[in-house]
Amino acid sequence: MVKVHYKRYHQLRRSQEVEFDQEKESLALVLFCGLILAPQFITSLSTFSLLYSFETEDEANTANVNASLCSSVPNGTICCDRISIRSDICIMKGDVRTQSASSSIFLHTSNNTNGEEDDGGEIQHETIRPYTRKWETSVMQTIDELNLISRNASFGVGHHCDVQHDVPAVFFSTGGYTGNVYHEFNDGILPLYITSEHLNKKVVLVILDYHDWWYTKYADVLSLLSDYPPVEFHGDNRSHCFPEAIVGLRIHDELTVDPSLMKGNKNIRDFRDLLDRAYRPRIRTVIQHEEHQVQLKMKEHKISIERAKEKQESKKPKLVIISRSGSRVITNQDSVVKMAQQIGFRVEVLKPKAKTELAKIYQVLNSSDVMIGVHGAAMTHFLFMRPGSVFIQVIPLGTSWPAETYYGEPAVKLGLRYIGYEILPTESSLYGEYDKDDLVLCNPSTVTQRGWEFTKKIYLDRQNVRLKLKRFGQRLVRAYEYSIESRNQNLKL
Ligand SMILES: *[C@@H]1O[C@H](CO)[C@@H](O)[C@H](O)[C@H]1NC(C)=O
Ligand SMILES: *[C@@H]1O[C@H](CO)[C@@H](O)[C@H](O)[C@H]1NC(C)=O
Ligand SMILES: *[C@@H]1O[C@H](CO)[C@@H](O)[C@H](O)[C@H]1NC(C)=O
Ligand SMILES: *[C@@H]1O[C@H](CO)[C@@H](O)[C@H](O)[C@H]1NC(C)=O
Ligand SMILES: *[C@@H]1O[C@H](CO)[C@@H](O)[C@H](O)[C@H]1NC(C)=O
Ligand SMILES: *[C@@H]1O[C@H](CO)[C@@H](O)[C@H](O)[C@H]1NC(C)=O
Repeated sequence: MVKVHYKRYHQLRRSQEVEFDQEKESLALVLFCGLILAPQFITSLSTFSLLYSFETEDEANTANVNASLCSSVPNGTICCDRISIRSDICIMKGDVRTQSASSSIFLHTSNNTNGEEDDGGEIQHETIRPYTRKWETSVMQTIDELNLISRNASFGVGHHCDVQHDVPAVFFSTGGYTGNVYHEFNDGILPLYITSEHLNKKVVLVILDYHDWWYTKYADVLSLLSDYPPVEFHGDNRSHCFPEAIVGLRIHDELTVDPSLMKGNKNIRDFRDLLDRAYRPRIRTVIQHEEHQVQLKMKEHKISIERAKEKQESKKPKLVIISRSGSRVITNQDSVVKMAQQIGFRVEVLKPKAKTELAKIYQVLNSSDVMIGVHGAAMTHFLFMRPGSVFIQVIPLGTSWPAETYYGEPAVKLGLRYIGYEILPTESSLYGEYDKDDLVLCNPSTVTQRGWEFTKKIYLDRQNVRLKLKRFGQRLVRAYEYSIESRNQNLKL
């Protein structure tokens, strides 16, 4: 993941909701590192946000004023909306035909208003890379580029249709950072939902930079977005014809859906409902299988005592720890598990791997009251938590900005109770490696503002955390009380 919008940093830090659990510990931190740093700390924050700000306020306004751009495209024309800094999107209406060998999509039209066309009968020629990280030139270079060409219909006579579709197509790429779960949802699945939801599954997905594993991993979600088998653009040399093509995906913000930009005001909870419906059949199968196993064992009188114990356990609020390996590991995780059990939680440790079925992760998180994890791509799974449940993100030194922007803020939009647990320097494995007055420990923002590579090298790739049980335990107790409270409320309803 590369630096994105370094926006509204200090506004974010002031936000009430995000900080519902914040205590005055930043003050303690400043005292710890020497009072002199206090004013500097504040100045450096504002420089930071100026340096990297994309002026999101303006962006939001533009998006709203121009929300109707390309919303009604006349037959026989191509309309491209290139206003967003995150992605371009082009719409072609009329007689649309693909030609994968030349990476082209043609629009055959007899509607030539200005009478200008070249030797090939070309009236308009647009190019687009249908991926949602437009501002990152290096990754965009790796995305297949498409030519969108409208031409005089009489020049397309020899270009027949091998497959005639009577519904629109959405063209998009699953290349770039696909392979990282944050990017898969943020840059792919959510934008696909935003762009195609209003078509009520009457849409063919045409995929560039296609991977079989990606299709398998998201098949249950995709089946609720499209009634048709997908087309692999470059693996299929037939000419596919459509009445309309939407090329590229719209994206709103990090891991979210902005209802003001959606037809029917759909929001992130609607997206989560779609996930719930998508995973339901698979989860039902898993549960039936498990129950069958239990019954087999019951017959052998093996586990009736265990079963009774389990029933008792299942009344407790459930806490899930999303466990990492490599870097950003909780080195005293076992003690944290014990403490959580003592507080009264039923604890499950989940270690999602690239091949772990998403439905199984969904099953675990959808039935949990609290999710805990150290900042990283796996935090994307907060999307699987029920609105109203608690998400505690452990924030290692130097990662506050991405932690809040990519996960904290979006989790609040989903309706989770979010606790950002910023670790103290003494909870970081870096504490033993640097002098205790070193800026790396005392003032990470001066280090991270030097550039993403510093954040990555110093704070992301080789930092582990050792949670102070007393300090972290306060959050767990609060989460426990909250879980019990909301359960009782639900019972009353
Ligand atoms: C809306 O889009 C047009 C061009 O398509 C642009 O000229 C205009 O400035 C945009 N409106 C705002 C408020 O930015
Ligand atoms: C031709 O294009 C113009 C705009 O470019 C549009 O207003 C008109 O409706 C189109 N005519 C037909 C027959 O599609
Ligand atoms: C749109 O244009 C195509 C050819 O350019 C034509 O076949 C089709 O009937 C038109 N549709 C409408 C609704 O005008
Ligand atoms: C399309 O091309 C043909 C052949 O060159 C020409 O006669 C015709 O006027 C063109 N049509 C339009 C709408 O430009
Ligand atoms: C597509 O490719 C296959 C073999 O690679 C070839 O037999 C077929 O004729 C091609 N079809 C088209 C429409 O080019
Ligand atoms: C998720 O949890 C809710 C509330 O307990 C339940 O109604 C729903 O069926 C669960 N979803 C799935 C897919 O199991």
